[in-house]
Amino acid sequence: MANYDVIVIGSGPGGYVAAIRCAQLGLKTACVEGRETLGGTCLNVGCIPSKALLHASHQLHEAEHNFAKMGLKGKSPSVDWKQMLSYKDDVIGQNTKGIEFLFKKNKIDWLKGWGSIPEKGKVKVGDEVHEAKNIIIATGSEASSLPGVEVDEKTVVTSTGALDLPKIPKKMVVIGAGVIGLELGSVYTRLGTEVTVVEFLDHVTPGMDSEVQKQFQRLLRKQGLDFIMGAAVQSVETLKTKAKVNYKLRKDDSEHTLDADVVLVATGRKSYTDGLGLDALGVKLSDRGQIVIDEGWHTSVEGIYAIGDAVAGPMLAHKAEDEGMAAAEVIAGKHGHVNYDVIPSVIYTHPEVAAVGKTEGQLKEAGRAYKVGKFSFMGNGRAKANFAGDGFVKLLADKETDRVLGAHIIGPAAGELIHEICVAMEFGAAAEDIALTCHAHPTYSEAVREAALACGDGPIHS
Ligand code: FAD
Ligand code: NAI
Repeated sequence: MANYDVIVIGSGPGGYVAAIRCAQLGLKTACVEGRETLGGTCLNVGCIPSKALLHASHQLHEAEHNFAKMGLKGKSPSVDWKQMLSYKDDVIGQNTKGIEFLFKKNKIDWLKGWGSIPEKGKVKVGDEVHEAKNIIIATGSEASSLPGVEVDEKTVVTSTGALDLPKIPKKMVVIGAGVIGLELGSVYTRLGTEVTVVEFLDHVTPGMDSEVQKQFQRLLRKQGLDFIMGAAVQSVETLKTKAKVNYKLRKDDSEHTLDADVVLVATGRKSYTDGLGLDALGVKLSDRGQIVIDEGWHTSVEGIYAIGDAVAGPMLAHKAEDEGMAAAEVIAGKHGHVNYDVIPSVIYTHPEVAAVGKTEGQLKEAGRAYKVGKFSFMGNGRAKANFAGDGFVKLLADKETDRVLGAHIIGPAAGELIHEICVAMEFGAAAEDIALTCHAHPTYSEAVREAALACGDGPIHS
């Protein structure tokens, strides 16, 4: 048994960042993790492995579709799936070991095993009970289940199974056109799988700008993804190594069936707090099973904090990280800060999709007067050279003050470009501030400046 200032439960982006910040602020810190490796969902079975497979499959797509156009002739590469998975596992290993190194460097004890909180100020791991002045719960999330659909992680998989399939399937049905469905659906489409996405709503990626949604779906269709929209999946039957997906079209209640070698269930995630003993402690949960916190990341029980996917808000690694830092600062007696109005979201398909701030729909609903500056990547020299002219930057600014309220980008490097707008929003910038900033030529960033110019006297290149 050891005494700590802080014990963090969970070592995902929320937990490990919280632990590092606590240690940096002079607090004696431990982090409990039940997995074999540190880094949580994100590093082990989420952000990092999915991006590795997106990168590898994108290279294949480029070789098959764009190399010859540039005079790079010859046979396209063939796919060695085992090697691709081992590249992905190697990337995971480098990242998870990186966190282990950071823990050692910052003198954070890794308490290996599943933790529970038997009483305030105590964390039990295996047979050992440790004392902690403060506890941060960062236990993350798990895939939501769907009635009538039993996941076996072989034929019917969540994202975890989809990142480690024994072979590339011929036919895949993806249930849910959200972020996971479209990222992993893209991976397998590029690898030659026939992918059909079945989505309950009439549009992809709920919550995104509606123009982006339409263009995104159109571009994914062009890449070979098939969509069945407005369809509610009723059940999935598994027959040895195959599956049948039964769904109903919402418009007329008609019933249909799709065959698949693999079914990916990607219908959202839910907070994971099993086994912590929160009920007995009196830690309040919302009706969605998320830990209820106040603006200082305190739960309803003194000395216990919660962050990341275990609490409300977007289930994103960077949101969890920011909360981790902020909670650590509060515990150390400083001021923790997260600006929930400026949390970017990125979909790492090709083209990428990125957003920050308000959508037009939200501004309309709030009755706010706004203007739109839009610029197509077709007018961007760099994008044209790189076969990346599909997409646009859309900037939303206050009609009166010109203050930037949001941005929605579909196009090359959207996930990088969005951060210029995040910084602008943090500084309360006007669209004109971006428009007056010299942007290097030829860069994709010029499209952001052109969208800002479009909020004023007009863009130059359209
Ligand atoms: P997690 O990362 O879920 O970590 C929680 C950890 O706590 C886990 O390791 C778990 O084993 C451990 N744990 C739970 N209970 C206990 C216990 N009782 N004792 C000990 N340990 C415990 N987000 C992005 O921002 N960008 C992306 O590109 C992205 N891609 C994703 C791709 C996929 C396929 C998935 C599934 C998710 C993706 N996400 C992405 C979401 C992102 O992974 C999560 O938002 C993020 O991991 C949340 O961090 P967290 O620290 O709250 O929890
Ligand atoms: P999601 O919430 O993004 O999308 C789920 C989709 O499934 C929705 O479009 C929903 O309408 C649909 N759906 C629900 N029930 C259905 C049914 N019965 N039949 C058909 N469709 C149905 O959830 P997803 O994709 O599982 O991702 C979970 C979380 O992981 C997200 O919150 C996301 O933030 C995070 N994530 C983030 C990534 C990123 O930042 N690039 C990448 C992957 C995941």
